[in-house]
Amino acid sequence: MTARIAVLASGGGSNLQAILDHLRRVPGAGAAVVYVASDRPDAGALERSRSAGIEAEVLNADMRTSGLAATLAARSIDLVALAGYLRMLPADVTSEWRGRVVNVHPSLLPSFGGAGMYGHHVHQAVLRSGVRVTGATVHFVDEQYDNGPIIAQWPVPVLPGDDVESLARRVLAVEHMLYPRVVTAVATGHVRLSSDGQVTADVPLGWDAT
Ligand code: GRF
Repeated sequence: MTARIAVLASGGGSNLQAILDHLRRVPGAGAAVVYVASDRPDAGALERSRSAGIEAEVLNADMRTSGLAATLAARSIDLVALAGYLRMLPADVTSEWRGRVVNVHPSLLPSFGGAGMYGHHVHQAVLRSGVRVTGATVHFVDEQYDNGPIIAQWPVPVLPGDDVESLARRVLAVEHMLYPRVVTAVATGHVRLSSDGQVTADVPLGWDAT
């Protein structure tokens, strides 16, 4: 059985692309992206999915709130992968798909996460703080921004002379390696969230897995 993945994205969609490329490269991955949606009509993610022959939709205010659960259910979605999606998911989606919604964040959570911490704001805060290591985190999604149980992380050095752009590039390159593997592992049941919030994985996932 092939697990059916929905990707929600607000931006360029490079993580969506990394997932599509990964699933194309790995024969018998056991998962496929079948639906892509965005709150922004100009999101690059929509174009990428249309080019790949995947259903792509712009979500208006109703569709991304009260209508989202029905939209996902109508397509028999097993896993929802957020890839730069800047809206809070409605509570009925996080509860119905608990343990089956994941997100990628460009820092080592719980540092530099939460409301307002997206895009360049994250890297700016990292640079201002003076930390020497940042990274990428993939986590299960709950009712708060960047808060759910962590599945895997990958550290990235902050180098002397880094600016927001150079740091963002370095972290994004790592997201592209980490996120497709985790998405596939969750979709195919190799990573699970137990009812007491524990994450179990029977495949190696993070930077230590290479
Ligand atoms: C990524 O940095 C991701 O961590 C964050 O939003 C960005 C999305 O980039 N959640 P892209 O649209 O996948 O290129």
